[in-house]
Amino acid sequence: MTAMAELGEAELQQHFDDRVAKDQRIEPRDWMPEAYRKTLVRQIAQHAHSEIIGMQPEGNWLTRAPSLRRKAILLAKVQDEAGHGLYLYSAAESLGVDRGELTEKLIDSRQKYSSIFNYPTLTFADIGVIGWLVDGAAICNQVPLCRTSYGPYARAMVRVCKEESFHQRQGYESLMTMMGGTDEQREMVQDATDRWWWPSLMMFGPPDGDSPNTQQSMAWRIKRHTNDELRQKFVDMSVPQAEALGVTLPDPELHWNAERGHYDFGEPDWSEFKQVVSGQGPCNEQRLARRRRAHEEGQWVRDAAAAYAAKQAATEEEAR
Ligand code: ACO
Repeated sequence: MTAMAELGEAELQQHFDDRVAKDQRIEPRDWMPEAYRKTLVRQIAQHAHSEIIGMQPEGNWLTRAPSLRRKAILLAKVQDEAGHGLYLYSAAESLGVDRGELTEKLIDSRQKYSSIFNYPTLTFADIGVIGWLVDGAAICNQVPLCRTSYGPYARAMVRVCKEESFHQRQGYESLMTMMGGTDEQREMVQDATDRWWWPSLMMFGPPDGDSPNTQQSMAWRIKRHTNDELRQKFVDMSVPQAEALGVTLPDPELHWNAERGHYDFGEPDWSEFKQVVSGQGPCNEQRLARRRRAHEEGQWVRDAAAAYAAKQAATEEEAR
């Protein structure tokens, strides 16, 4: 500790670089470059906000789930997403930011959340497809984050990924059930697949050539793969799953490329992505308005907790 405190900035930087290069974790009390801290706060906050906003599209079907079993599963899943948000806010707090401040930034549109949660859930098949494709994409993106260089984020990801993997399977299982049902149910599954496929590919972020953060985040080992690498992995994983399910992915350019050992696929509509990320997606306004209202309605809980904490502190002070 004393030895570290005596090091100059250049030596601290060298020590940090060496640890990252050796794949050792950076912990909250370790010295870190300010830009590394800022990048982590940006990414972890955006990730936490996505988990919290992501409760809304699925919460939309809680009161209309087709059976008690489906309702119990959906309720548990939506609660899991809230838990993921909380682990992630805690990880962000270990970097010296306050979660109240992060919430303010979300509801004032000063921080982002994932584009995917700005699309509507029109039928119950959307719930299955969110589990299959959206949580499937989340797993693809987040399993490598279990090895990210910042300790608290990496550890939070281990549990998140285990739960996401259950979410993915429950979605796929519910789609399998629907595909074994009536023609109308099969059409619902196809229609939901058609609407969620391209937005799921956009979850991985802009193409590598247009991604301002990837290069530095890879050097810091925050990101372990580029956006395009993970998008390709997701496509390769999803095609056989779609075949087993009996749905067609809505991309005429999707073909196996034996030379590359991967599927070739079409280009997502990046102008749509930009629009959604800039607040112009189909549900952006509704999602933020709801989050803002929930925050305002929770004011009494925060006030009560603060009053209780002050009372406890005063009692302890008196007892001294
Ligand atoms: N939705 C909204 N914004 C996005 C998305 C997206 N799908 N993809 C990229 N962006 C934003 C980035 O946040 C960045 O904006 P900013 O600099 O203002 O923060 C900008 O677009 C450029 O993108 P990149 O340079 O590629 O950004 P980055 O290196 O952070 O990569 C990625 C983006 C892949 C999403 C990364 O942040 C990541 O892996 N995050 C953790 C996972 C996550 O947040 N998942 C949320 C959805 S999954 C779920 O909640 C179930």
